[in-house]
Amino acid sequence: MRDQYQREIDYLRISVTDRCNFRCRYCMPAKGVEFVEHSEIMTYEEILRFLRIAAGTGIRKVKVTGGEPLVRKGVCGFIRKVRNIPGIESVTLTTNGALLEEHLPELEAAGITGINVSLDTLDPEKFHQITRCDDFGRVWSGIHAAAQTKIPVKVNCIPMKGCNEEELAKIATLAKEYPITVRFIEMMPIGMGTGYARILQDEIKELLEDRFGTMELVDEILGNGPAGYYKIEDFKGRIGFISAVSHEFCESCNRIRLTADGILKPCLNFESRVNLKEEMRSGMTDEELERLLKNVIYHKPRCHAFGDETKKDIQEKRRMAGIGG
Ligand code: GTP
Ligand code: 5AD
Ligand code: SF4
Repeated sequence: MRDQYQREIDYLRISVTDRCNFRCRYCMPAKGVEFVEHSEIMTYEEILRFLRIAAGTGIRKVKVTGGEPLVRKGVCGFIRKVRNIPGIESVTLTTNGALLEEHLPELEAAGITGINVSLDTLDPEKFHQITRCDDFGRVWSGIHAAAQTKIPVKVNCIPMKGCNEEELAKIATLAKEYPITVRFIEMMPIGMGTGYARILQDEIKELLEDRFGTMELVDEILGNGPAGYYKIEDFKGRIGFISAVSHEFCESCNRIRLTADGILKPCLNFESRVNLKEEMRSGMTDEELERLLKNVIYHKPRCHAFGDETKKDIQEKRRMAGIGG
């Protein structure tokens, strides 16, 4: 269905857990992270019930995220069930990649339609600094193993001043050597991401053009998200940018979110009080849930308010892992 600004909302991002096996500096503190109690996490059955209703209102694409979605038991079986819901056309996964290789056969069998892997550096040492864990090798082999399958693979890299800025061209060469799309994601001022100096899309594009030649904007559909894509001669994959602040894309936003603890969020930047899980657990019928969903979609905010101090009170205070990216 369309929201009040005539945007067609057909994409639902579902965070299946707020837990993660990494502690990326821009996302979580090193220690003492509090996670949602198991009893407060939506069960797969609850999510599937909601999805059947959502498919009825026009949701066609589903993203499974976290925290780290592969740390939740049974996630591949869940994905298979989502794939089988009439009306759902694609189910993609966004992962940090550490557990990817071992889950690949099951993900393929479940019918996953795309896998995005976060990778901010190719240097194991720096990887440790950023994620506070030693899984570079596992992520790297996960990406390579995924690239051998027929599943479309994307790498998500967040450029950070004074951290990985020297490496961006090298990371982009993944798209030269493999049919992988490499995307540079502008750090958003969310949670611990607030303190970082962004490297702007135009700066990165210039740097890549100096090195690899002209980048030509393509209008192929390479996913369901907000990225803009470019092709470079001799590259097997594409280069993409997601720049929520410097190149705001809210006008074409097509998505809503469901957090692991069952909050339905029309925009990642605003706090939401729509507690779907509580409503389900206190006996709301399918018809009532559908009405609730339509109401949330209709009233989706026109755009985010990153950096707008006057809207601080209504902005999301959760960290990225609690929102689902
Ligand atoms: P595909 O294009 O289908 O592969 O998905 P995607 O780009 O939506 O998914 P992914 O989970 O890889 O997200 C990449 C980045 O885009 C993450 O940093 C998300 O937080 C960000 N992102 C996704 N949707 C939105 C959105 O609606 N608003 C903003 N500001 N950022 C978003
Ligand atoms: N801004 C932008 N992207 C972020 N991610 C985590 N925190 C932020 C942030 N503050 C990214 C991860 C992953 C994706 C799901 O979200 O790196 O690629
Ligand atoms: Fe985990 Fe992703 Fe947060 Fe890193 S950014 S700690 S991988 S949820």
